[in-house]
Amino acid sequence: MITLKNITLRRGPRALLDGASVTINPGEKVGLVGRNGAGKSSLFALLNGTLQEDSGEFYVPAQWRLAQVAQDMPEVEDSATDFVVAGDTRLAAALAEVAAAEALLHDTTAPNSADSDAQGERLSHAYMELSDAGAYDAPARAQALILGLGFKLSELEQPVNSFSGGWRMRLQLARALMCPSDLMLLDEPTNHLDLDALVWLEAWLQKYEGTMLVISHDREFLDAVTRTTVHIEAAQLKRYGGNYSRFEDMRAEQLEQQQTAFSRQKDKIAHLQKFIDRFKAKASKAKQAQSRVKALERMEKIAPVLAEADFTFEFQEPANLPNPMLTLQDVSCGYLTPEPLVIVEHVKKSVLAGQRVGILGANGQGKSTLVKTLARTLPPIYGEVIEGKGLAIGYFAQQELDVLRPADTPLEHMIQLVREVTQSGGLSGQATREQDLRSFLGSFNFTGDQVKQTVGSMSGGEKARLVLCMLVWQRPNLLLLDEPTNHLDLATREALSVALNEFEGTLMLVSHDRALLRAVCDEFWLVSRGGITPFDGDLDDYQRYLLDVAKQAREEQKQSQKQAQKQGAQPAPVQSENKAKPQPSSKPSSKPNAKTQHNLSKTEERMAALELEKIRLETALAKASSSDSKPADVKQLRELSEMGEQLARLNQELATLEEDWLRQSAALET
Ligand SMILES: Nc1ncnc2c1ncn2[C@@H]1O[C@H](COP(=O)(O)OP(=O)(O)OP(=O)(O)O)[C@@H](O)[C@H]1O
Ligand SMILES: [Mg+2]
Repeated sequence: MITLKNITLRRGPRALLDGASVTINPGEKVGLVGRNGAGKSSLFALLNGTLQEDSGEFYVPAQWRLAQVAQDMPEVEDSATDFVVAGDTRLAAALAEVAAAEALLHDTTAPNSADSDAQGERLSHAYMELSDAGAYDAPARAQALILGLGFKLSELEQPVNSFSGGWRMRLQLARALMCPSDLMLLDEPTNHLDLDALVWLEAWLQKYEGTMLVISHDREFLDAVTRTTVHIEAAQLKRYGGNYSRFEDMRAEQLEQQQTAFSRQKDKIAHLQKFIDRFKAKASKAKQAQSRVKALERMEKIAPVLAEADFTFEFQEPANLPNPMLTLQDVSCGYLTPEPLVIVEHVKKSVLAGQRVGILGANGQGKSTLVKTLARTLPPIYGEVIEGKGLAIGYFAQQELDVLRPADTPLEHMIQLVREVTQSGGLSGQATREQDLRSFLGSFNFTGDQVKQTVGSMSGGEKARLVLCMLVWQRPNLLLLDEPTNHLDLATREALSVALNEFEGTLMLVSHDRALLRAVCDEFWLVSRGGITPFDGDLDDYQRYLLDVAKQAREEQKQSQKQAQKQGAQPAPVQSENKAKPQPSSKPSSKPNAKTQHNLSKTEERMAALELEKIRLETALAKASSSDSKPADVKQLRELSEMGEQLARLNQELATLEEDWLRQSAALET
């Protein structure tokens, strides 16, 4: 059980918690909610020991193993699989112990003492623990997590360094899930996920058996994975026995009751006060007046319900509206390193003044790549992007928070921005004096001390709000927003939605926030299979389209299975929208390719052999690890561990072969 009793927690000048208490029972799944900057992440820091309480007591069972997502960007050469396997702390410890015990046994310089028995025993214990820690199937478990979070088979062995920021954060999440734990702390785990991965994570968390605390601003996600809600507000913690939607209902009801009680008390106070005022000077009634004064003093005042300070902002009217804003002349977007990799090709489109485009498409299809190319931060591989005269782009990148300088304050960021824009001659009537910048920050809720607080110490939502503020100041006429709502609380999302609706320039938006897409876009582009097509319909049509694509894929598979049965060949793979790769634009060749057919058969043979071997190994391992036949000696244990390793290698080879097989059969089809 976790208990907090009368906890006070300060950060900077503010008390985030002031005499707050709450209890969380073992096995409970709790949503921790509250406005941006309320102190949710700080509470996690208290629980994991990186922050100290200022007063009060709290208790987390000492034997509980903690899993949490590291917040830093990993910069390592390890493969994705190895990186995630290393998240299993029990396994890591067991491996270290085996290494230490082996080193001791092989240490020829050590005196040949009677200790060698003890050393042998230590090694055998170490192997036992290694097997108990699930060493033999660890890579497979890690890979299941990685694939679940949306990576492709071919990416399992790629180095962590080669992934973009958002994907590396997904690996951090997988690593946390890999770690055996009794308590899991998840701080906005859905920020870097798309819809597919999100649904997978929900299912995973529903099965998690430990105690879980999760911070999120996503109502649907919270409803899916939590049954209890803890709300941070006004430096207090309040527990509600229900998921987020239940919490909203209960809270609304409570607020209403509180408001009624407050009004009633106000009437009563007015009445008492009137009595006192009237009679305090009258000797005959002075005593009664006195007792009413006491009653007033004793009365526990009910607080009025304060409407949460609503936050609104607006985009400034653009200085001009070039039309078209941008013209894409047969543009191919993608990346040049290490070899040219085209993601979206042959785009011939114009972006017109006043257009409001939602960019749709499954994960990995190239939405961000397209937006980066439009924003001119990524040069097109082929073709040209022509800018309209007076174009002023406001670009919000998916990883935008990283571009903030942690040691600088919001004010310093604004001053630096003014400097940059002035130098590039891009000023169009913006406020530039320090006082004006302060009040501009003020309109984004950065007031008083916060203007001078370093960005590194601000909460995620506060940083995102600062980035928005800087964007608005630049007075753009073309907004390119790539997942702008990550980190923002619901009220700020609403403010963004209102501001975007009133924006007079052109908007291009990538978002998994359906409410936002629905509210602000009036047309959609679909990025899919290496191209861009206007999507004829609204968001509901898009969801139907996704279902259709899935259905079509299933039917195609059935068809090809039927055909395969006729011809005695293998079924064709399902190509889901999600996994579909950009199709090469070369013409399909008319003759079946004999060489590919040959390769395919070879691959199939090898796969069949591996499958057999896999079954053999798995059966042997399962038999050995069943409780009634514990291996007796070190030699046997070593054999076991070798078998485990063999199985892992085999699984890896199988995964690669499966990829080859998919590719070869796709090639045969075209
Ligand atoms: N070292 C510090 N000095 C001053 N203020 C700080 C410091 N660290 C954090 N704060 C402030 O404490 C408040 C709580 O931050 P915290 O990160 O806990 O919020 P949060 O509830 O997680 O918000 P979000 O929803 O935006 O993630 C914020 O206003 C933040 O600016
Ligand atoms: Mg936070």
